[in-house]
Amino acid sequence: MDAREMVSLSEAHKKFFQVGACLSNESIKRHDAIIKKHFNCAVAENAMKWGPIEPKEGIFTFAEADEIVKYSHDNQMALRAHAPIWHMMVPDDVFMDGGKPASREHLIERIDSHTKAFCEHFKGQFSSWDVVNEAINDFPGEDLRQSKWLELIGPDYIDIAYHIARQYAPDVQLFYNDYNEFVPYKRERMLKLVKGMLDRGVPLDGMGLQAHVNIVECNLDEYERTVEAFAALGLRIHITEMDVNPYSLRDRVFPPSSPITEEMHQKQEQLYRGIFDICRRYSDVVDAVLTWGVADDMTWLDREFCAGREHQPLLFDQNNNIKKWTEQIIEDAMRYNG
Ligand code: XIL
Repeated sequence: MDAREMVSLSEAHKKFFQVGACLSNESIKRHDAIIKKHFNCAVAENAMKWGPIEPKEGIFTFAEADEIVKYSHDNQMALRAHAPIWHMMVPDDVFMDGGKPASREHLIERIDSHTKAFCEHFKGQFSSWDVVNEAINDFPGEDLRQSKWLELIGPDYIDIAYHIARQYAPDVQLFYNDYNEFVPYKRERMLKLVKGMLDRGVPLDGMGLQAHVNIVECNLDEYERTVEAFAALGLRIHITEMDVNPYSLRDRVFPPSSPITEEMHQKQEQLYRGIFDICRRYSDVVDAVLTWGVADDMTWLDREFCAGREHQPLLFDQNNNIKKWTEQIIEDAMRYNG
């Protein structure tokens, strides 16, 4: 066996932060060996979102999440919970009352009862939680994304969701999670949001930086600036959904005209190693780095971000072999003495 294969990603980063990935029922079967060897933290890709947990009001379906919870615990992995309050994967009925839109009070009551049931069921089973996900607008105009939550409750829906989460999950670290954190105007909006929350005494412990990065629009200087800015607020930081796209976001609807070139792979490697390096240097505030998927055979990018195109954005390849850049990341960690 290659000597570098001896040390896993999580072992190599033991003194810096946890390393993990999002899991689904399918991936824990397919990627069992990789997960067991390399990861010491996890998050459910979809199973803990509102729709999968409560598809109809008062009807709870915990089975998929339970399986992931058990798997994480059996394998001594810390578990993050992810994304009840999001603009996606929440059943339309949540926002309705008979044929009419639900009132502010009614929707807040629903957040309360969903959160209560979630926390009672998973009590003691997860240590951090992305309570609100992707609330910031990507486009010119308002800071907050248009969503049913915003429309029916108002901008304080975010604060309300965290107060409710704290009430039912007093021992869990509460995170706000968002993407395009390396784009300066988006970062400013994210900073403004969480600073405001902290000023208002909203119970927020950490910032989830998704790190859906790409080789065209992301660079390491901006990434470091982002980590630095959130660290300065006194928040814990998790890199929550890392993948490195060889295409720009603007390319998302276009089919690939050519396969991923060697040059693109090199840029992917630079971003991967560079972001891990930034996280090591900020390891006093960065507690976990997770990728969005275990291996390239199951990345969401190929499935739905731009279906039919191969993105190869993860740490393990289509055949579930470790990639060169992953071995480099392990070596970088072993050599690091900053
Ligand atoms: C994605 C999942 O990977 C898909 O399977 C699902 O269909 C949609 O959601 N940001 C997030 C994640 O916070 O929850 C998203 O996950 C990817 C983008």
